[in-house]
Amino acid sequence: MNRFEQNSTGDMQDQAAGLRALANRGVTRTVTAGTTRCIAIGSGKGGVGKTVVSVGLSLALCERGYKVLLFDGDMGLANVDLQMGLVPEFTVQDVIFGHCPLEKARLSVEGGPDVLVSASGSPELVDLSPARRRLFIEDLFRFASNYDFFLIDTGAGIGRGSTDFLAACPEVLVVLTNEPTSLMDAYALIKTLHLRGEAHGLGVIVNMVDTLEEGDRVFGRLNDIARQFLGLTLSLEGVLVYDRRVSDAIRRQQSIVRYAGDGAVAHCLRDLAGRLGNRRRQQARPPDLDQWIKQWEVSAFLSTKGASES
Ligand SMILES: Nc1ncnc2c1ncn2[C@@H]1O[C@H](COP(=O)(O)OP(=O)(O)O)[C@@H](O)[C@H]1O
Ligand SMILES: [Mg+2]
Repeated sequence: MNRFEQNSTGDMQDQAAGLRALANRGVTRTVTAGTTRCIAIGSGKGGVGKTVVSVGLSLALCERGYKVLLFDGDMGLANVDLQMGLVPEFTVQDVIFGHCPLEKARLSVEGGPDVLVSASGSPELVDLSPARRRLFIEDLFRFASNYDFFLIDTGAGIGRGSTDFLAACPEVLVVLTNEPTSLMDAYALIKTLHLRGEAHGLGVIVNMVDTLEEGDRVFGRLNDIARQFLGLTLSLEGVLVYDRRVSDAIRRQQSIVRYAGDGAVAHCLRDLAGRLGNRRRQQARPPDLDQWIKQWEVSAFLSTKGASES
């Protein structure tokens, strides 16, 4: 039994008490809920194309006239800046440790998103003190509320560093490829979110397939297992074919949307931007900072508890 399964059964009462204590502490609302769409991009397995999707999607959304903030939430292996050819003077770690305000860490891409870059190899938010983390999260979401879309590129896996972002976001895109390991890791991630009660708004992107039909089949397999074992229905949001120009683009530190704008991958990312912009507009839950802060405090509580138990 893994830690999430233990948490979801044996520790229920303790957790409920902890949650009540947090709720009673009363979180002060500092941001009026707006219409910012918060979307986190995650995966079970690494190297499946989360950053390619995050960067490409943010550019495609900007092409449609949206104001987009892209945040590199993969604090362990941050590389949004590398894929976009950005040279940051300041990173979010400078913000977290009080060296500069968020505005100063923001990088603007011409015709593209504003970007908050992380320093690779830096501590994850869960590793920070609750006070510092809370300050940063409040600041981050206050800042993000000025945008139409807030995209978070997260780290791979089911660790708290990435799943906290996924759990906190009203919309999540899970990226996977046609490999059994990627499929099972995507399932493990979805199950983790499900056990935390946060498997809402889950969309799937199948990447690096030869044909769109292959993408449909891979999605079908994931959807079947999620339905059978978790009772969840997922939605297929996009299929990206394998195109070696994606790695050429990365070597040139450009997004595929700009490097090969007429190619199938760019088209798919633009379609995805179109669908996200239109179809889900009515369903979108605005970010609720109270809820987000509570979520992070709950996570901190659980991880402290997990650490003290192990
Ligand atoms: N559609 C694609 N076609 C070809 N190669 C791709 C495609 N998507 C991603 N890649 C390759 O996969 C690598 C990992 O992508 P990346 O976005 O960094 O993954 P992650 O962020 O999930 O770790 C890239 O360096 C690129 O070479
Ligand atoms: Mg990445």
